[in-house]
Amino acid sequence: MNEILEKTVLTPVTKKIVVNAPYVARKAQPGQFIILRVRENGERIPLTIADYDREKGTITLVFQEVGLTTRLLGRLEVNDSILDLVGPLGVPAELPEKGTVVAVGGGVGVAPILPKCKEMHKRGVKVISIIGARSKDLLILEEEMSACSDELHICTDDGSRGFHGFVSDKLKELIENGVQMDEVIAVGPIPMMRATCEVTRPYKIKTWVSMNPIMVDGTGMCGACRVTVGGETKFCCVDGPMFDGHLIDWQEAWRRVNMYRDEEKVANERCPNCGGVR
Ligand code: FAD
Ligand code: FES
Ligand code: MG
Repeated sequence: MNEILEKTVLTPVTKKIVVNAPYVARKAQPGQFIILRVRENGERIPLTIADYDREKGTITLVFQEVGLTTRLLGRLEVNDSILDLVGPLGVPAELPEKGTVVAVGGGVGVAPILPKCKEMHKRGVKVISIIGARSKDLLILEEEMSACSDELHICTDDGSRGFHGFVSDKLKELIENGVQMDEVIAVGPIPMMRATCEVTRPYKIKTWVSMNPIMVDGTGMCGACRVTVGGETKFCCVDGPMFDGHLIDWQEAWRRVNMYRDEEKVANERCPNCGGVR
């Protein structure tokens, strides 16, 4: 169980692995995630189930190496096993049956948006996707997103590919050009999701975001993943990760994901051959 069956390097900082996890694959639905540990005494980190194959009993994870644990995970090779992995966790995404949805994915956020687009495409929903990254070398899953989108827009912050600007700028352009949409789903770093919500807010377009707070147990007991939604405290692991983006307290969310930056830096520096300083 938990053996890595396939490994693909997607960009200099992003890897895709296919893992033997039949119990998770059997129950997984778009929007859900797993929590894993790479080594004994290691921390637990959440990763979205980017794809699953119930017959083969596999799940796909796509992760960006941003710190110690993701770097350690990136060092595992085919036939190595992940120490432990629990899931599927979280509430499956509430996806529409019809209409037009704009799916906005930034950076590694394209991975969590992919299973939602696949499912909506299968249901006959018109999917307009906007994916972006800092530069063309960091774009991921373009082919897979193209296969489940009626329209695919590519953006890069530096203009090295497609639209020169942020995914939220592209969304604004589509709205201003009169493109009709029933809802927007945005997944990516907090500043990107927040900017997307500010674009849709004046037009009152329902906007779902997938929150990414620090998680520990993933079962609603530790409180690490709390987010404020419409003035109420929610636990992202059991009430989310998808929430109405117009109701999120973004300032608090940003403060909380950055709470352990100093400790994370030290952990990263202490680990030999794990990449050193970010
Ligand atoms: P560190 O250097 O320890 O941390 C880097 C940053 O990652 C931190 O500043 C913090 O913002 C965040 N982080 C650190 N520890 C945790 C933790 N225990 N839980 C959550 N965030 C943490 N990343 C992907 O690359 N692919 C995914 O599919 C993906 N899906 C996610 C789904 C959910 C529901 C959540 C909450 C997060 C997801 N993430 C995903 C983010 C991923 O969990 C973090 O990048 C990872 O935990 C970083 O760990 P690290 O030790 O490598 O980095
Ligand atoms: Fe502990 Fe959500 S991760 S309550
Ligand atoms: Mg860490």
